Amino acid sequence: MKIIVTGSSGFIGMNLCIRLLQLRHEVIGIDNMNNYYDVNLKKKRLKELKKFSNFKFIKVDIKNKRILENKLGKFKPEIIINLAAQAGVRFSIKQPQNYIDSNITGFLNILEIAKKNKIKHLVYASSSSIYGDNNKFPFNEKEITDKPLSIYGVSKKTNELMAYSYSSLFNIPTTGLRFFTVYGPWGRPDMALFIFVNQILNKIPVNLFNYGKMVRDFTYIDDIVEGILRVIKKIPNKKNLKIKKNNKFVPHQILNIGNNSPQKIINFIKAIEDNLKIKAKIRYTKIQLGDVPKTHSSTKKIKSWIGFKPKTTIKFGIKKFVEWYVQYYKIKI
Ligand SMILES: NC(=O)c1ccc[n+]([C@@H]2O[C@H](COP(=O)([O-])OP(=O)(O)OC[C@H]3O[C@@H](n4cnc5c(N)ncnc54)[C@H](O)[C@@H]3O)[C@@H](O)[C@H]2O)c1
Repeated sequence: MKIIVTGSSGFIGMNLCIRLLQLRHEVIGIDNMNNYYDVNLKKKRLKELKKFSNFKFIKVDIKNKRILENKLGKFKPEIIINLAAQAGVRFSIKQPQNYIDSNITGFLNILEIAKKNKIKHLVYASSSSIYGDNNKFPFNEKEITDKPLSIYGVSKKTNELMAYSYSSLFNIPTTGLRFFTVYGPWGRPDMALFIFVNQILNKIPVNLFNYGKMVRDFTYIDDIVEGILRVIKKIPNKKNLKIKKNNKFVPHQILNIGNNSPQKIINFIKAIEDNLKIKAKIRYTKIQLGDVPKTHSSTKKIKSWIGFKPKTTIKFGIKKFVEWYVQYYKIKI
């Protein structure tokens, strides 16, 4: 199939593209290679993708509709997976405009491309952040999500609303995936696991926010990729959405994709210590602005939709990450 993956030089994008390329799909990767974090890491991920002859890369910012359309030329995608976004809750407090540009204007342009090409399915990244201040656990997709705690959360909630309206107006099948704290090889340097491993290796104290009471539903990258692959194939339609006779049919679906196994951050750190065989120095501190104290994903809906739910344990996942990290940075432990 002809597939566009935006954010292809990103953490999830690169891991997903590898699997799509191995499955012999024709993939166009789009990324603006911005410097939100180490650009070298993005370049190295891209280098891995360029090893495949069925991969083509376009460097463009999705907020620029005209350039985006020009560069796509005659490529007629059947599937679009939109992962390009300004990620990060904390950065959204400092630089809110980036989130409006990439996540909202950029996503509108992707919806327009989807419409113009009459694509079969648009799958896009949402986030557990949209649950914001909700405190009914586990988070399930039926909950009202109108209490986001950051502009990042707002931008992802907005994506879900935008996708719904395009599905409704133009009959474009769309599926939004609410990712829960993804981790694994080729991960993001701004996220906890990367930071902790670096600090523990360098004997720098690790900040434990909310005095160690933060809880996250860590989800391993391979589970995320497997989930996306299955979701791509399951196009929301009247039958599988089980639309009742007099109800309006909108080909739109929202799914959590999390591990359903919330972990205290301290357990996460213990697993890193076990792998590195170094004891972490801990500094307990208050919760950071915009952060949600706990995430916990219900996986009932995704399980019944695609017959799969994430299952990787943090013990296995962290081992894989640490192996990748020491090899990537040529560290001896
Ligand atoms: N990693 C997680 O835990 C997590 C959790 C929830 C949601 N998400 C969402 O999943 C998606 C992928 O996340 P990730 O962890 O791979 O992040 P990432 O930052 O590694 O990847 C995003 C990629 O998109 C690119 N990009 C950003 N803005 C762009 C723009 N305007 N035009 C073109 N390219 C642009 C970046 O250069 C980057 O390579 C994002 O939408 C993110 O918000 C991730």
